[in-house]
Amino acid sequence: MQPTVSERWFARAEQVILGGVNSPSRSFAAVGGGTPVVMAKAAGSRFIDVDGKEYIDYLAAFGPLVLGHAHPSVTAAIQAAAAEGVLYGTPTVWEVEFAEALQQAIPALERLRFVNSGTEAVMTTVRVARGVTGRHKLLKFAGCYHGHSDAMLVAAGSGPSSLGVPDSAGVTPAVAGEVITVPFNDLQAYADALQRYGHELAAVLVEPIVGNFGIVPPRDPHYLRELIDLAHRYGTLVIFDEVITAFRFHYGTAAQLYQVEPDLYALGKAIGGGLPIGAYGGRRDVMEAVAPLGPVYQAGTMAGNPLSMRAGLACLKALREPGVYERMARLGERLTAGIQAAAAEAGVAVTINRVGGAFTVYFTQHPVSNYADAQATDSRLFAVFFHALLRRGVYIAPSKYEAWFVSAAHSDADVDVTLAAVAASMQEVAAAAPPR
Ligand SMILES: Cc1ncc(COP(=O)(O)O)c(C=O)c1O
Repeated sequence: MQPTVSERWFARAEQVILGGVNSPSRSFAAVGGGTPVVMAKAAGSRFIDVDGKEYIDYLAAFGPLVLGHAHPSVTAAIQAAAAEGVLYGTPTVWEVEFAEALQQAIPALERLRFVNSGTEAVMTTVRVARGVTGRHKLLKFAGCYHGHSDAMLVAAGSGPSSLGVPDSAGVTPAVAGEVITVPFNDLQAYADALQRYGHELAAVLVEPIVGNFGIVPPRDPHYLRELIDLAHRYGTLVIFDEVITAFRFHYGTAAQLYQVEPDLYALGKAIGGGLPIGAYGGRRDVMEAVAPLGPVYQAGTMAGNPLSMRAGLACLKALREPGVYERMARLGERLTAGIQAAAAEAGVAVTINRVGGAFTVYFTQHPVSNYADAQATDSRLFAVFFHALLRRGVYIAPSKYEAWFVSAAHSDADVDVTLAAVAASMQEVAAAAPPR
């Protein structure tokens, strides 16, 4: 068979770009292989590949595209910014307005800083926490992803609350040895870890609604409050990594949904309307440890660049339109109900975790509330489902650990088309499943 135009482009990509992709999660390694699709353009809920094939997009670029592609007001903001200069290296009115808009939505951001990615945002909150407390150790939760800075690429050690081990070549055992990893949704394991290490911990770092082993909310509505209260008892700061969650489920943070307040926030993805962005901030007394006011150093040539600031402002404005989040949640509900029904019809066991317009379909009959649960779900059936949907023009993330993201650009018609593709795809999954 002749290679497609997309396959030819990807073959070229592999000759120059390492692995053909600029981020490993874009490869199809986690779905049994296949050639990543090379996209050409996008608008609203859809993108089109270089062969002219159209896809309904639930990847949302791994989260940022909460308004969908090429939203008219974001596009206009980018065009206006481009015409007036994209970088000054000085304060600008745009960064002030954008910071004010974020602070208005999230009053706990008493002071904040813009950076260029979620990785930078999280990395800096950790440095700030260490600088303020004078402590070195961190506690994080197994399976959560916080960007690719060294201390974040640490996996759980052998015991339930033991010191971590490097999860990537190049991360030193010394760095990993500063990180304690415990299971999400397990307050006892957390309390045990704090009892052992609490007085050495600079910070506890958590995705308040996990997005990185699929969508996994706290099982107990008081879980996050207890995490925070316990950490504070040991003088440990609490950092919420809301890079995925902020402005994803409502106009604000997941912390606000659970009526809790961390000491520091890391933000990114959706706040930039698709442009490179990160931000961190929180308690003023803690943030004042950062240069030029304090001894913790953090800087950035591109930080607060007018393109990202103006796109972010336009994005927040569009998200303030009445009914945006209700619509995404309603479509998410329709999709998950339809997927569940298609799975039942095909005799395939699935567990679906959904929060608003974001959800994950796990091939298992068991609940998924931590990383071990997510690991135990069927990767092979997920891969069959992924490729079956892709062939039918429905693009979801190529990993069982990711989410479907409904955007403000999705419509009921998109859901109808998607559910028809899901019904046929579930039959393929059923054919590949071992008999029950
Ligand atoms: C929760 C979370 N934190 C941090 C990051 C890192 O963000 P970035 O890829 O913008 O560096 C990600 C990226 O997926 C994330 O999901």
